Amino acid sequence: MHPDTAPPSGTTFRERVRALPTFGPGLPALDPKDTPSTPHELFVRWFDQAVDAGVQAPHAMTLATADAAGRVHARTVVLKDVSADGWWFAGHATSGKGRDLAENPHAALTFLWRELGRQVRVTGPAVPADPEKSAADFLAQPDHSRAAGLVNRQGEPLGSREDYTAAFANALDTVRAEPGTVSPTWTSYSLAPTEVEFWQSSDTTGQTRLLYRTDGNDWTKGLLWP
Ligand SMILES: Cc1cc2nc3c(=O)[nH]c(=O)nc-3n(C[C@H](O)[C@H](O)[C@H](O)COP(=O)(O)O)c2cc1C
Repeated sequence: MHPDTAPPSGTTFRERVRALPTFGPGLPALDPKDTPSTPHELFVRWFDQAVDAGVQAPHAMTLATADAAGRVHARTVVLKDVSADGWWFAGHATSGKGRDLAENPHAALTFLWRELGRQVRVTGPAVPADPEKSAADFLAQPDHSRAAGLVNRQGEPLGSREDYTAAFANALDTVRAEPGTVSPTWTSYSLAPTEVEFWQSSDTTGQTRLLYRTDGNDWTKGLLWP
């Protein structure tokens, strides 16, 4: 249905929303006995399965942060890598998320892969990378993303759409004329998890929750009541 099309007559929003299925049939199972010793390995296994299953944008994740007063903010960002250092994402240090993380590094990432009935939650402190790594991430992006990154005023009030169009066009000219230009505020962050939870829905046997926890050295894992 086109977003501007009128909804079916005689139904309420509540009826329409409650009629929607959350997951499809034929979901895979999570066998806790067949899981690796670190969440990094299970995450990459599940991620590859999400790609194979045709999940759209499996690298899109919700990043939740909180300011020093505990006010929580969440938004979508893309995953850039998973390494021994953690789960990597990037954004402007001057943005809302950058300000939150400077005040309070505790953050959470959530992935939903609905076609597989799966959710992954990654929780822990997120720390900025050094400027060289952030610059490399910035330069690895396509022209349009680099131009958007160079405009560099994310979250400030915008007077008119034309102001942005002009700033974006200028930034695109710069990116094409001087391809080595880097946004000074673009920052890579790695979230080094203290906990990672894998959640699997099932058509027949209820849900499974597997939680990995670390003391900073080793990982332990255990089930949670769903
Ligand atoms: C699918 C998707 C991917 C996005 N990826 C990023 C990203 O990687 N980095 C980023 O800074 N913003 C990204 N955004 C924009 C953010 O959701 C958000 O609007 C922006 O970062 C400002 O958020 P903040 O004011 O809370 O910092 C993405 C948005 C969508 C819908």
